[in-house]
Amino acid sequence: MALILGIESSCDDTSVGICQEGKIISNIISTQPIHSLYGGVVPELASRAHIKNILPIVEESIKKANINLQAIDAIAFTQSPGLIGSLLVGSSFAKSLAMCLEKPLIAVNHLEAHILSPMIESNLNPPYLCLLVSGGHTQIVCCKSAIEMELIGNTLDDAAGEAFDKSARLLGLPYPGGVLIDKLAKEGNPLAYTFPKPKITNFNYSFSGLKTAIFYFINNQIAKDKDFVEKNKSDICASIQHTIIEILLDKFLQAAKQYHIQKLSIAGGVSANSYLRKKVFEKAQEKQYQIYIPELQFCTDNGGMIAFAGYQKYLHHDFASLSIFT
Ligand code: KG4
Ligand code: ZN
Repeated sequence: MALILGIESSCDDTSVGICQEGKIISNIISTQPIHSLYGGVVPELASRAHIKNILPIVEESIKKANINLQAIDAIAFTQSPGLIGSLLVGSSFAKSLAMCLEKPLIAVNHLEAHILSPMIESNLNPPYLCLLVSGGHTQIVCCKSAIEMELIGNTLDDAAGEAFDKSARLLGLPYPGGVLIDKLAKEGNPLAYTFPKPKITNFNYSFSGLKTAIFYFINNQIAKDKDFVEKNKSDICASIQHTIIEILLDKFLQAAKQYHIQKLSIAGGVSANSYLRKKVFEKAQEKQYQIYIPELQFCTDNGGMIAFAGYQKYLHHDFASLSIFT
């Protein structure tokens, strides 16, 4: 029964999960509230908070899993991409732990861990097409096996999560705004306002034009009525969310058709969005695709998905050297 401990510290969540033979038996996530004071993640503050959080979170995760630290078979950690200072906290801790316990180290790519996360607690097996939507990336990836992935579409500028967070900021909402837009949109009309969509012919995504359009729209409306945002917040949120989700799903379904892939999944922080979860399910049903949507705890950054991706590498004896960067 392989036991893998996974450490995630790439951005502003310190998280530790434990995977036992493919099942996640603990997944402790500690978010850092300090960044909401600044409207975005402050890298230096994030690294300091990781240093403070990491040991208690490892201890809590071990306790929740009801296991002994000595029973761990390998230590997995997020190697990249992410904020360098934040990554270094997780990697240094993982290396020290691996050295002390004399257990192998496994370096995990954060994006690959998100892409594999729909397999956790489900009967999904590769090959499948994944729409990865996080704070820093928007990608369409064909997951051919747990260790082989093909990039089909990528972020050209702002990612889907950034589109949510930057729109929220324009509406005066605190960081991270994605989850607040989701909440406010529940009371609004998604067709109240229309925003432009990018005209990109391949499978790449761009959201910076939408952000600019929202900026001008809000400023023009405020010039006519200074209380416009307050009076129409739910409708604005619902319309922005509807536009972002339509941009995402139009391309994703086109890719599924072109690549003849029947199994679809979503992953990453934005896959926690209730409207995306509902729409992708409806559209997949309509076109008779099978759709796999991760549990909420595995959508945003979490150690469970690092432990799970680490377990896949463990099965392939894909270990890292203690001198690996980061
Ligand atoms: O995957 P993630 O936790 O971190 C990165 O790897 O970037 O994604 C974070 C992003 C943020 O932009 C956040 O606003 C967005 O996911 N997010 C949401 C929701 N929950 C998190 N966006 C829309 N609706 C949500 N419910
Ligand atoms: Zn992430």
